[in-house]
Amino acid sequence: MYQRGFAGSVAMTTAAHQEVACLSPTQRRLRARRAVEASVGTDVAHAEEVLGYSLAGGKGMRALIAHTCGDYCQLPLDVCDKIAAAIEMIHVACLVHDDVVDDAETRRHQASTNCQYGNPSAVLIGDFLYSRASQLLCDAGSLRLMAKLADATNLLAQGELIQLANAGTLQRTDVYLDMIWRKTAALFAVAAEAGATVVGDEQLAARLHVFGREAGLAFQIGDDCIDYEGREDEIGKNPGGDFAEGKVTMPFLCALELADERQQRELHELFKCREQSGSFAQARSILEEVGALEKARQKVSEHVALAVRQLEQIPNREHVGQLHQIAEAMLARNR
Ligand code: IPE
Ligand code: IPE
Ligand code: MG
Ligand code: MG
Repeated sequence: MYQRGFAGSVAMTTAAHQEVACLSPTQRRLRARRAVEASVGTDVAHAEEVLGYSLAGGKGMRALIAHTCGDYCQLPLDVCDKIAAAIEMIHVACLVHDDVVDDAETRRHQASTNCQYGNPSAVLIGDFLYSRASQLLCDAGSLRLMAKLADATNLLAQGELIQLANAGTLQRTDVYLDMIWRKTAALFAVAAEAGATVVGDEQLAARLHVFGREAGLAFQIGDDCIDYEGREDEIGKNPGGDFAEGKVTMPFLCALELADERQQRELHELFKCREQSGSFAQARSILEEVGALEKARQKVSEHVALAVRQLEQIPNREHVGQLHQIAEAMLARNR
């Protein structure tokens, strides 16, 4: 039963909610996308143009998790839409800023916002999206959720700062895991627990938080694998970017662990000369030789299994099957 918060929303009883058929993931993504579009209106023409560009495309993964979990908690659908939209806006703000930080040229199969409009516009559009997401959440009226989202957004910035500070160094696996928790998994975690937070079910929120965290870790490790495995036309951004930027991610860490002494020396050398042409291809062939990508993919599976285990602890309804599918999709993701 939805009881608190959200100005203008009508409380919905359990019975009334269950009469409505469970939405499909496609319907949830569409509703979240429409809610984003409805929330970013502005009379600043340049902002309108850059927003339209930056928001195009995207898998809507965090929005889908937030929507599914909010609906599972029997929040009214318009409230689920708003929460999902706010989280997606924070995510896109983060991507737009991340591409400035990483000097990335492509994103979502098109020129990145910084390439298309320049760094100043990209920085300001990120600010616009972060602050508009807060406005949307204020409108929604749950102080507890706002606090959690503020924490996650701050962790995200911390994760990016840790990554920046460690670029070019062979960081340890525990430092890498802590960094990806902050920069990626924290937002997945709050997406998952948002609905339960609004209805005040902290026990369920804690379980869904772990579900989101583990799914988020799986997602980022999978993404780091794709950077070694994928082709640009498939992934919509530059492969080999992490290596060239001196970012040590799970596949490289696994390679260092599995390599013999000669291979380890080669990997260290290649990492030092990472900006030279051919270094990435040579490093990738050592990763293949030692089975580093298989090992990194195995880590993805382990985190997915931990996420799925959380779902076994909560009453099973159709939404739980959808969350199960979201977690399993991390295993097959290649873009
Ligand atoms: C990209 O996230 C950033 C990472 C955490 C790896 P997504 O791959 O979810 O980005 P979009 O929204 O689908 O473009
Ligand atoms: C993406 O991080 C942004 C955050 C999760 C904060 P990355 O730099 O690792 O991801 P891509 O490769 O640009 O999507
Ligand atoms: Mg990046
Ligand atoms: Mg980055």
